[in-house]
Amino acid sequence: MNALELFGVTKDFGAVRAVHEVSFALEPGSLIGLLGRNGAGKSTTLKMISGLLQPTAGRVEVLGRDVAKFPLETRRDVGAMPEEMALLDMLSGPQYLRFVARMYGLDTKTADARAAELMDRLELLPPRGTVIADYSFGMKKKLALSSALIHSPRLVVLDEPFEGIDTVTSRTIKDLIALLQARGVTVVLTTHVLEIVEALCPRVAIIEKGRLVGFGPLDEVKRTHATLEGLFLELVGGHRKGELSWL
Ligand SMILES: Nc1ncnc2c1ncn2[C@@H]1O[C@H](COP(=O)(O)OP(=O)(O)OP(=O)(O)O)[C@@H](O)[C@H]1O
Ligand SMILES: [Mg+2]
Repeated sequence: MNALELFGVTKDFGAVRAVHEVSFALEPGSLIGLLGRNGAGKSTTLKMISGLLQPTAGRVEVLGRDVAKFPLETRRDVGAMPEEMALLDMLSGPQYLRFVARMYGLDTKTADARAAELMDRLELLPPRGTVIADYSFGMKKKLALSSALIHSPRLVVLDEPFEGIDTVTSRTIKDLIALLQARGVTVVLTTHVLEIVEALCPRVAIIEKGRLVGFGPLDEVKRTHATLEGLFLELVGGHRKGELSWL
């Protein structure tokens, strides 16, 4: 059984077709980097995978189950870090993680223990009682990542997990992602940093104007192109623009 499969997934926002008949399948333990330019449809695709958005057409299956038909089961299986981190600003980090974990049915003791372990590992150590509203951008990112992992999901969907993250923590997050993969967890992530994908993801998917234009093992890319950047620019167009008229 595949961990994740998309069958002709399409999403329209009014007249805008954000995602256009995207299909692919990932077996358990896959780690894939989803690449694409701004507005290509990455976040929209991830939101449909995690059940935050309904496709206009097509369907998503997580562990063989149709996400639209089994929303609650999907929530338990999926850990998502969406683009807009919907955190509860007036709670502290540990309170928020306890809340999320309790929603997933964990008991308070387990929730607090996992929250403490995650915050320690990610070096998210604000002064006691600091509310999320007062967290820095990177701290919020770390908290969102923690909340995506606390219920031991089988599929983890991370929208730009490295954005705004310091170099030391980036290393930690890469290690965590590699650990998830080693444990058979399937990970889908987006980033604009191709070097991260090259170092971390055995497989890449490239989306352009809502369509999947590239999908395959990084090894194959390496056979035909010196760098992932070369392939990326070839697939999504790398024309340099001219000068600005007034400069
Ligand atoms: N809620 C929405 N309502 C209307 N249009 C939307 C909505 N969400 C996304 N879109 C549109 O869908 C398209 C794809 O957006 P999406 O956020 O998926 O891109 P992205 O690949 O994640 O880009 P980025 O790299 O900038 O994060 C864009 O044209 C965007 O304007
Ligand atoms: Mg996005």
